Amino acid sequence: MICYQDDQRLFTLHTKNTSYQFVVDAHGYLLHTYYGPRVGGGSFAYRLREADRGFSPNPNAEGHTRTFSLDTQPQEFPSSGVGDFRIPVLEVENADGSRAVEMRYVSHSIKQGKYSLEGMPTFFAKEDEAQTLEVVLQDPVTGLRAVLYYGVMEELDLITRAVRIENGGTKPVALNRVMSMCLDLDRAELDFITFDGRHTAERHPHRRRLAPGIQQVSSIRGTTSHQHNNFVMLCDPDAGEHHGQCMGAVLVYSGNFEASVERTQFETARFTMGISPWQFRFMVEPGESFVAPEVAMVFSNQGFAGMSHQFHRAIRNNLCNGTWAHRRRPVLLNTWEAAYFDFDSDKLLDIAGHAAKAGIELLVMDDGWFGKRNDDKAGLGDWFVNEEKLPGGLAPLVEKINAMGLDFGIWIEPEMINEDSQLYKEHPDWALQIPGRPFTRSRSQLVLDFSREEVWKHVYAQIKKVLSSANITYVKWDMNRSLTDVWSAALPAGRQGEVYHRYVLGLYAMLEQFRKDFPNILLEGCSGGGGRFDCGMLYYSPQIWASDNTDAMDRLLLQYGTSFCYPVSTVGSHVSAVPNEQTHRITPMNTRAAVAMSGTFGYELDPCKLTDEERNTMSLQIETFKEYYDLIQTGLYERLTNPFEPGPFTAWQHTAEDGSRALVTVVTGMARSNAAFTTVYPYGLLPDAIYTVNGKEEMRGDVLMYGGIPLPNEGGDYRAMQFMLVRKSES
Ligand code: GLA
Repeated sequence: MICYQDDQRLFTLHTKNTSYQFVVDAHGYLLHTYYGPRVGGGSFAYRLREADRGFSPNPNAEGHTRTFSLDTQPQEFPSSGVGDFRIPVLEVENADGSRAVEMRYVSHSIKQGKYSLEGMPTFFAKEDEAQTLEVVLQDPVTGLRAVLYYGVMEELDLITRAVRIENGGTKPVALNRVMSMCLDLDRAELDFITFDGRHTAERHPHRRRLAPGIQQVSSIRGTTSHQHNNFVMLCDPDAGEHHGQCMGAVLVYSGNFEASVERTQFETARFTMGISPWQFRFMVEPGESFVAPEVAMVFSNQGFAGMSHQFHRAIRNNLCNGTWAHRRRPVLLNTWEAAYFDFDSDKLLDIAGHAAKAGIELLVMDDGWFGKRNDDKAGLGDWFVNEEKLPGGLAPLVEKINAMGLDFGIWIEPEMINEDSQLYKEHPDWALQIPGRPFTRSRSQLVLDFSREEVWKHVYAQIKKVLSSANITYVKWDMNRSLTDVWSAALPAGRQGEVYHRYVLGLYAMLEQFRKDFPNILLEGCSGGGGRFDCGMLYYSPQIWASDNTDAMDRLLLQYGTSFCYPVSTVGSHVSAVPNEQTHRITPMNTRAAVAMSGTFGYELDPCKLTDEERNTMSLQIETFKEYYDLIQTGLYERLTNPFEPGPFTAWQHTAEDGSRALVTVVTGMARSNAAFTTVYPYGLLPDAIYTVNGKEEMRGDVLMYGGIPLPNEGGDYRAMQFMLVRKSES
């Protein structure tokens, strides 16, 4: 609910459990007053305080009054160059070369339903599930306008923000920095939590107390990156899973980003998030506008779990869309770790035969099926079937695979080109490159200039032909390098600062087209695993291959980190062979399955190389997963332990929202001799209900929660145990 009190020029945005408030002051500055637990009403503007602070200047509108300064007031969309020295949201270069910009209130409107942003993904809602507030601000000197969008999704406790900058003046303006949001908090004793890592070790949480100055995570790789995710949190120093205040913010965007928090001189904190300003310069001509991507925020008064549950619901129901958002996803077998580039129709049919018998529902032919793609040095850009491997194209193969009862999917990497390709011979200028400068290869490939419509449209036409040539029900969309040599032949020198963003817009345009043409194809995102695991991609692909690391023990870490924002239904996760390809570790097959089940679940191995016993195990695992599917995909996800802290095991739980069932999974670490007894404590059961534990013992919910489940100590490393708790009756 959005309330506006005209007499006080006060905006209060209420969700089910939170309220967010700001006020328009006498000069038209938007001052932030509150974000926290829901309140019934009332103004927090009484908390705005003024004082004469040395070296904090006073706006001209205040005359010689020295107590009001933009440098110290909490603001919604701060000005820059006119007296606020904290991290800015907006930096412009006006036609006369000056850099100042000052945004003041002009008007606002409140609408039913949720806004959307042209050409960019956003959370969506039914008309009666959300409201939108638009606040128009304007620079009194240049006429530059900012339209602030606020989306209020009440049931989800989700508040979204985005900004449109409009040039209402008569001269061009260059935008050097446009953050999507600013949140000025009145305290600084907070922890900043970010999700960081590297290729094959993504989204490991890092928590630190805010220190004076700016702390920041960002990506300048052209994608979200393996190194830092664009989801971050701020919380009380003592906040934990189920207590304390915390706030999470995620950018709905797949390119360069920046998330910054500044601990200020007066112990306040400013949080900003948006497109990274690094090499960013967007020209806006009179009458034109620029739109900054959406940020979605959730505040929780009950610790991390409360926040995660709201993000999980919102991403599942109000971001992922299309046919597959809610349809049961198939259990797949992917050929990458099974065969790499070395396969042909016969090999695929062998794999499919065993896979079908084990209960696999979808065979995914990964990299290597097109052009001259026999290794990773050639072929990208040539999206036609390599008939030496697959005689007659896809149709005859897919027909045979379908006849075995399996669906069929393929891998593509549309944004890339190898020099050794037909496409490169025809269009060498389509790769991102700077004239006169030798380009930078990564995995022997170059990046296509997707900021140019003719480039992505050409690639798309080829891919469309392939997808239309056979019964293909799944596509894995990969992206295997960071952007370098960013320069587009289609833009003049003064607009090269737009290429990174225009690249992302080109990618979204192609994904949109794909969705329209192939609404029934399940799309899985990928970027060397989790290099582009973000809400922008999740709008188009309801699942993303979470990491190229398939080792169960490493997966515990990255799936834990991923779970703070992203629901299980989005996490691409497979059982692979041992010794593991990335770590060379050997883990039991049941452990690999127990871990992969907290994701979309599938296999990434050659079933022909398994023993009969292992293939039997595989079919039992698939049956188990199918039985647990609904609970795992839609239940509340509880992190029972933190795998980054020392302890004998890692545990997590999926709980049905009505408390009727819960699945507790435990994975032990390295075995220790003469080890202490260990116990896992389920969470959030109905205290008075009686539960059966794995169909056997009957126990009360409160006894299970407070007494825990004693874990057997059978010895051996990396053991998995699952406890299915089913409510029997109320006592
Ligand atoms: C990336 C993906 C892998 C696989 C290979 C194929 O690394 O993350 O899963 O598809 O590319 O080249």
